[in-house]
Amino acid sequence: MTVASTNDRFQPINLFDYEQLAKKHLSLMALDYYSSGAWDEITLRDNRAAFERVKLRPRMLIDVSDRNLNTSILGQSLQLPLLIAPMAFQCLAHPDGEVATALAAASAGVGMVLSTMATKSIEEVAVACHDYSNSLRWFQLYIHKDRGLTSALVERAYAAGYKALCLTVDAPVLGQRERDKRNEFVLPPDLHLANLTSISGLEIYHQKGESGLFTYFAEQLNPAVTWHDLEWLQSLSPLPLVLKGILRGDDAVRAVDYGAKAIIVSNHGGRQLDGAIASLDALSEIITAVDGRVEVLLDGGIRRGTDILKALALGAKAVLIGRPILWGLAVAGKTGVSHIISILKTELSVAMALSGYAKVQDIDLSLVSQNHLDIV
Ligand code: GLV
Repeated sequence: MTVASTNDRFQPINLFDYEQLAKKHLSLMALDYYSSGAWDEITLRDNRAAFERVKLRPRMLIDVSDRNLNTSILGQSLQLPLLIAPMAFQCLAHPDGEVATALAAASAGVGMVLSTMATKSIEEVAVACHDYSNSLRWFQLYIHKDRGLTSALVERAYAAGYKALCLTVDAPVLGQRERDKRNEFVLPPDLHLANLTSISGLEIYHQKGESGLFTYFAEQLNPAVTWHDLEWLQSLSPLPLVLKGILRGDDAVRAVDYGAKAIIVSNHGGRQLDGAIASLDALSEIITAVDGRVEVLLDGGIRRGTDILKALALGAKAVLIGRPILWGLAVAGKTGVSHIISILKTELSVAMALSGYAKVQDIDLSLVSQNHLDIV
């Protein structure tokens, strides 16, 4: 696939190339917003380092001529154990924003989670994807103080055919990303909170000396939400509840007890609590704690097919990928996102072959060196 103009001799062949290229396509405000982690960005870096720490134990002389990457999540089939993580403001990367991302995901048979803070609405994305009615599309929810607003979002997601509600539980307040604070982050005048502005008039306002998004969270989102509110949330629609942002076994057990149907092990891409454990390092405790009662997914730091392999070996059913999708979007819109997905698919397939696994379902803990697990 060719993504850059003919004058541009640099053709991206991996996700790191896309990150470099994307820098030329984004404003500093957008690049900083997408790439930042909280405070010293320790967790942001550790999400990547955790993958580098895990070592593989490949099996030899297995017939891997016919490889099958298909899986299912909450009963819906995927051509690859991959979903696109919920990410805000995708029109900062490309005018087609979340619509391009959703179309690229649906046509590749991977999942997509639309953010509450999207710059294309729940309905615009659903209409654009109407040819892909079987695709896995979930809606990510932030709970506003205004309960009516929250229930309206849930009802709209259900009516528009989204298949699950993905509640982000790691953001009672927004993490402090210092580059956004310095830039006084705000959306350009032509972009809006597509799910919110039209029904509530809510906007992100310029704030002197502060990120406008940080202030929005402080003013509009509800930091008092607890486990008990999950019952109310589940009463709003028949959509299964997925909790995103779990990092401990005891919270994972509570999630299952309170009705969650899947868990996403995540530290929000290192953007919330700096110093939080790397997602991959948190996975084994959670897999043990839930003991197969719900599906467990993971995000944070996935940049290679081998990273997907490692997460699956440690027990995740699928992974979510965030920032690289924004880099693909910035470089070449839907074509860029499709290319990112196809790079990961090829890398996973090659890594499976080299490890002696023909089916993703067969990938198991024996692939991972136990020396690593002792260290964690
Ligand atoms: C919003 O969810 C963000 O992490 O910036």
